[in-house]
Amino acid sequence: MNTLDNQIFLQGNGVSRILNSRVLQSPLAGITDSIFRKLVRSWAPEVLVFTEMVNAHSLELGHGEEKLKELSQESGPIAVQIFDFRPDAMAFAAKRAEEAGAFLIDINMGCPVKKIAHKGGGSGLLKDPLLAANIVKAVANAVQIPVTVKTRLGWCNESAKPIEFSLLMQESGAQMITIHGRTRQEHFSGKANWEAIRSIKEALSIPVIANGDVRTPDEAKACLSLTKADGIMIGRGSMGAPWLAGQIDSSLRGDSLLKTPNTKEKLEIARNQLLALVKQKGSHGLLIARKHLSWTCRGFNGAEDLRYELMRAKTAEEAITLLNNQIAVIGPQKN
Ligand SMILES: Cc1cc2nc3c(=O)[nH]c(=O)nc-3n(C[C@H](O)[C@H](O)[C@H](O)COP(=O)(O)O)c2cc1C
Repeated sequence: MNTLDNQIFLQGNGVSRILNSRVLQSPLAGITDSIFRKLVRSWAPEVLVFTEMVNAHSLELGHGEEKLKELSQESGPIAVQIFDFRPDAMAFAAKRAEEAGAFLIDINMGCPVKKIAHKGGGSGLLKDPLLAANIVKAVANAVQIPVTVKTRLGWCNESAKPIEFSLLMQESGAQMITIHGRTRQEHFSGKANWEAIRSIKEALSIPVIANGDVRTPDEAKACLSLTKADGIMIGRGSMGAPWLAGQIDSSLRGDSLLKTPNTKEKLEIARNQLLALVKQKGSHGLLIARKHLSWTCRGFNGAEDLRYELMRAKTAEEAITLLNNQIAVIGPQKN
């Protein structure tokens, strides 16, 4: 039994870990940077958050260290997710991530992006289970902390053998597996197949995390009930809603539901995120902030006009003035 109430136990090769929440905030490239993670953390202190995927090849070349350096300034459990198709490169990256303070190492076996998958990394590993197994073994031998895998149901619908693949990852040393209930062929289309995740859960002894189409506390409960998974991972539902992991976590614990920030609070969160991004990344921070702003600035009178202006703002100061003006128009809100 790996799951006790809200805890998930992960055996390492010397260092074991306990997750004190059944909710995981997924890695989202271009989104789950340290600033986003800190936001998630303010509602969800115990939830496992992930770095954006880190390219093992970049680390070999001495680049990409900035994603690891940030870990020491953050609180709570942070998994470092790595990708490549070469076991030795992945072992090297895992060691670097462990030294930098990773809570665990997660191996990306689900990314559908062509330039990664067609080289054999990400979801490309679903086509080569033996290579995937060798990567897990090499990484598990290189570090003391637990090693986990995040993957999909298969490469294409006809050839998918998710139970065999997951069992092989378990035998190779993976201590937890997260399954996005779609194949690579499906990308993000259709509905995530939670029944297939249940079959995997029934076959494995390591913790299984269900992923795909969980956007509310009720969906999280339905997914856990159907899949019998040890936990759930949220992805797109958190885009523009960094409070979602905390809301689901409190709901699963049976605590009173954390309230969704009101419009004024959402705009203040978006403004502070923009300020933090610009402080960290200079003018490039505005470009990164745009997508967050476009998700947050919705659902109130004038939202469409504000988004239009924000997407065209040439400087961070301009964008901040627009947000401040909107906050002033809204005035005090009760909830
Ligand atoms: C913009 C975007 C970026 C993503 N980046 C990553 C990533 O870096 N690593 C990864 O394993 N999955 C990544 N994913 C997949 C998600 O983590 C998640 O598995 C998927 O969105 C399904 O969950 P959802 O239905 O809750 O969104 C990404 C998805 C999106 C939409």
